[in-house]
Amino acid sequence: MSIIENALKKAGKQDELVTISNEHEVLQQVRIDTAFTNSHVDNKERQHDADQLVSIDWALLENNGFIDRTNTKSQLAEEFRVIKRPLMNNIQGSEANRISRSNLILICSSLPGEGKTFVSINLALSIANELDKKVLLIDADVEKPSISKYLGIKQSPGLIEYLEDDKVNFKDILLKTDLASLSVIPAGKRHKFSTELLSSQRMYLFADEVSRRYKDRIVIFDSPPLLVATQAQVLAELVGQVVLVIAAEETPQAVVNDSIAKLSHCDVVMTLLNKTQKDIDIYGYHYGYGKYGQ
Ligand SMILES: Nc1ncnc2c1ncn2[C@@H]1O[C@H](COP(=O)(O)OP(=O)(O)OP(=O)(O)O)[C@@H](O)[C@H]1O
Ligand SMILES: [Mg+2]
Repeated sequence: MSIIENALKKAGKQDELVTISNEHEVLQQVRIDTAFTNSHVDNKERQHDADQLVSIDWALLENNGFIDRTNTKSQLAEEFRVIKRPLMNNIQGSEANRISRSNLILICSSLPGEGKTFVSINLALSIANELDKKVLLIDADVEKPSISKYLGIKQSPGLIEYLEDDKVNFKDILLKTDLASLSVIPAGKRHKFSTELLSSQRMYLFADEVSRRYKDRIVIFDSPPLLVATQAQVLAELVGQVVLVIAAEETPQAVVNDSIAKLSHCDVVMTLLNKTQKDIDIYGYHYGYGKYGQ
């Protein structure tokens, strides 16, 4: 075996050896092929990574009243610190509490417009701002997606494309953002069988995989309203924790009770009173394990 063959064998590249009698040519041929293959793959990877990197429109977020990236002392930032704490505690103590998939959190509400997306994005930003935390924000409101619009990022293939086509990989729908600790999966295109797709085995495997593979990552699902579409109930079965957003002084008690009944099988359901007129609403946030807050 020649020196070149030996070297290639060591480098695990023997397959790329082209047998030409003149050893000098072999060396050249192999070098060119290897270099070509590597740079081709690297370029493809680099291009893919570049395509999947998006910049959040921070000014748009701020104008719409979301947490300001620089003003970490604002009242809203302070409120989301309080909101995220019990969720994070449940993740840290999940083995003792026996909460499975505690790092998957569903944000839902009974009716449209109660503030699910507002809470999802602010919660994601608040957690992503912590030093050692990574967040994956998934737009699972496949009927009426709005995460991309609020963040000011491009519309691109997302959850629906992934569920519909098993040739679509996780990395094809995962968008990295200019906030390194925050990734986003958009909802993707409209689909008339979106409920069926969300309740499919592939979605179950997706949730399981995300929970296991990204143990260190908090995954936030923005969902459709519970009492208007069936998808939220399906999603609630996949996650470890549910936050039920309630628009203060808007959503009737009977409606909230209906939602609570629909979520009764979930391990952890926390209620979040949103849009209150009080200065600080930390006491509107109730939570409990296997039951509703006081
Ligand atoms: N606590 C809040 N403070 C200020 N504005 C809020 C608050 N909560 C929600 N909003 C505003 O209320 C509107 C509706 O909120 P959002 O889009 O989050 O509701 P949603 O429940 O996701 O609605 P949909 O069911 O249509 O998806 C938005 O303009 C949002 O910015
Ligand atoms: Mg929404």
